[in-house]
Amino acid sequence: MCGIIGYTGSQDSVPILLRGLTALEYRGYDSAGLAVLNEYGQIDLVKKKGRIAELQKALTDICVSGHTGIAHTRWATHGQPSDVNSHPHMDISNRFAIVHNGIIENYLMLKQALMNEGVLFRSQTDTEVIVHLIAKFYMGDLKAAVRAALKQLKGSFALLVLCADNPSSIVCAAKDNPLIIGEGEGENFIASDIPALLEHTKKIYRLADAETAEVTPDGIEIFGADGQRIQKAAQLVDWDVNAAKLEGNESFMLKEIREIPAALANTLARYTGKSNPLLTIDKKAFQNIDKIVIVACGTAYHAGLVGKYAIEKLVRLPVQVEIASEFRYGNPIVDARTLCVAISQSGETADTIAAVKEAKARGCVTLAVANVVGSSITYAADYSIPTLAGPEIAVASTKAYNSQLMALYCLCAHIAKVRGTLDKTALRAFYAGLKRLPALAKKLTEGDGGLIKLAASLKNEHSIFFLGRGLDYYVAMESSLKLKEISYIHCEAYAAGELKHGTLALVEEGTAVIVLLTERAIAEKTLNAVSEVKARRARVIAVAPKALDLTGAPIDKIVRIPDCPDLFAPVLSIIPCQKLAYYTARARGFDADKPRNLAKSVTVE
Ligand code: F6R
Repeated sequence: MCGIIGYTGSQDSVPILLRGLTALEYRGYDSAGLAVLNEYGQIDLVKKKGRIAELQKALTDICVSGHTGIAHTRWATHGQPSDVNSHPHMDISNRFAIVHNGIIENYLMLKQALMNEGVLFRSQTDTEVIVHLIAKFYMGDLKAAVRAALKQLKGSFALLVLCADNPSSIVCAAKDNPLIIGEGEGENFIASDIPALLEHTKKIYRLADAETAEVTPDGIEIFGADGQRIQKAAQLVDWDVNAAKLEGNESFMLKEIREIPAALANTLARYTGKSNPLLTIDKKAFQNIDKIVIVACGTAYHAGLVGKYAIEKLVRLPVQVEIASEFRYGNPIVDARTLCVAISQSGETADTIAAVKEAKARGCVTLAVANVVGSSITYAADYSIPTLAGPEIAVASTKAYNSQLMALYCLCAHIAKVRGTLDKTALRAFYAGLKRLPALAKKLTEGDGGLIKLAASLKNEHSIFFLGRGLDYYVAMESSLKLKEISYIHCEAYAAGELKHGTLALVEEGTAVIVLLTERAIAEKTLNAVSEVKARRARVIAVAPKALDLTGAPIDKIVRIPDCPDLFAPVLSIIPCQKLAYYTARARGFDADKPRNLAKSVTVE
């Protein structure tokens, strides 16, 4: 949450900061601001409530330029979105400016103490205490002042600090929040996330917990918690710069849905190629266990449910799927005979990382499935395996979910092989089935498949229900999340057999019910639920494979998907549901890429 970008070099920092903010807007978009060291050695500050366009507008009226600057796009935690609560924040003497991502948990106590010392606060944010602490501890050495201030803080942060006395340097620090330094030539960059750096450099350094750094045009110096200089090897990012650009598409979400076939193919290729990441994992991690616990949030949690189904079916090992935020405080029953698998697109979700740490502390072997290579979770877990979806910019996850499913199927097959529950022939058939998925997905991502019209007919609904059994229930959950988060229509997913235990009371004439019907063996059972809602005059839309005969079924509209083994159907059945969510949001006039109140990468609890 919150995007951060910093620049120091020979160019004017303002356009670079603005482009960086635009690339990071998915991290938060209720306000934006920048602070730049001008040629007179002062800090110029401009910040505005609203999208980055508001900041840009403000900058057309005033002349701001300088070779070193920091900027921020905000997702409000403490203090509502307003000009004054926007970052950067400055001390009273206007010598220091900071941008911050994270939460300072003890800010009220610190604020009171500073106010008792006569410090005046301008905003309602937790962040502002940091800049006043830095100003208080500053004795001519910015790094020392930042370190002293950090010692006072409880919570999480990624922060950049400008000081009017150090015209070409930015001091930065991180704890439980991502911060990446990008190395250029005669110029350097700092950002909360890789997409903001891609157009400048692919050579990055990631700050680990409690590390600080001083970045100047010609140098990047990184220090450990004790202030000692440390050497770090640079990482090379292999993402294509265009992957984080619209490239003529009307939105990132639609572009990312179109990228699903490539994301599936790339992920499968890695897991079936010479550099299969599963082969680097000690086999004991799969052999010496009697259960698996999967931890994740949101869409990744829904992917985990499909993973559970596959592993339980093919490996016959119990799998528990836990919402990461519940797991970490739930006194979980896990031990050294539990494998904990954490799934995260960003690899920065605070609750998922905390769940991994909790599982580790209880003796579990931990394995992260992450889309962002080198993200925090890949360091927190004992092992990490990638999904190769490329950068996902739209807040609502699409291609990353499909890639997570692909990685989980491969993980499942690998565990089955190691534990001997699938023989060679069955494994070959399994991978052959996976191999067909990218091409089948392509059929679904092309064109609108009649979904624009369907979306138009749903756009004024107050409530939409999704039904399914088994795997279809899990896809119903993900479909419901997708539709509600970007269209703001209330949606609920129900296990088909559960509806009549209460929620059926909400179904009345015309209520839209979307039913997933891909598990052929239990489709008849799900059709019972369809009959029950139809008897209440609901409007029923089904998502079903071509081969499923639905003649005479009480269904108003059928969205067909290509046939594939039932176990893999979630990869395909979600696609029309993702598109339907997108077209419905569009029909209602909403920006699907940036749904209200949300941000990508939930780096706070
Ligand atoms: C919904 C969505 C979120 C994320 C969740 C976890 O479309 O994107 O529910 O799935 O915030 O994020 P990651 O996967 O980055 O841990």
